[in-house]
Amino acid sequence: EEVTSFYDAVGGEEKFHRIVGRFYEEVAKDEVLRPLYPEEDLGPAEVRLRMFLMQYWGGPHTYSDQRGHPRLRMRHAPFAIGPIERDAWLRCMRIAVDEAELSDDHRRQLWGYLEMAANSLMNSWT
Ligand code: HEM
Repeated sequence: EEVTSFYDAVGGEEKFHRIVGRFYEEVAKDEVLRPLYPEEDLGPAEVRLRMFLMQYWGGPHTYSDQRGHPRLRMRHAPFAIGPIERDAWLRCMRIAVDEAELSDDHRRQLWGYLEMAANSLMNSWT
C-alpha cells in the first residue's frame, strides 16, 4: 500500500522552506520574540526548525541525524515561554501558514499541530 506523507503531499522541501522562511521574517521584526533568540543570525535557528518540521511531517530525518532526539520541552527550557510568547510565536506562524498556498485541509492539519505544539512548550505562567 502506497502512503503519501503530508511532506510529499504539500510539495516537499520547497513548501517547508517557504513557511519557515516567512516565519523568521516575522520573528526578526517581533519585539517579544526577537530578544529570545540567543544568536545574532537567525539563519541557524531557521534551519533547525525547518529540519524538525520536515522530519515530523514525513520528510528526511536530517534533524535527528544532526541534533539527536528532539526533546523540544528540554530545548525550550532556557526561554521563558508564557502566553505572550506563545501568542507571538503563533501570530508569526499564522502569517507564514496563511501565505503558503496550502489546501484548506492541509492548512487545518498543520495549524492544529502547531497550536498544540506551541501550547505544550509553555513553561511559564507569569
Ligand atoms: C528552538 C522559541 C515554539 C521548535 C527555539 C529557540 C527559541 C525558541 C528561542 C532557540 C533558537 C535556536 O537556536 O534554534 C520558541 C517560542 C515558542 C516556540 C517562544 C513559542 C511557543 C516552538 C514550536 C516548535 C518549535 C511550537 C515545533 C513545532 C523548535 C526547534 C528548535 C527551537 C526544532 C531547535 C531545537 C534544537 O535542535 O536546538 N525555539 N519556540 N518551537 N524550536 Fe522553538
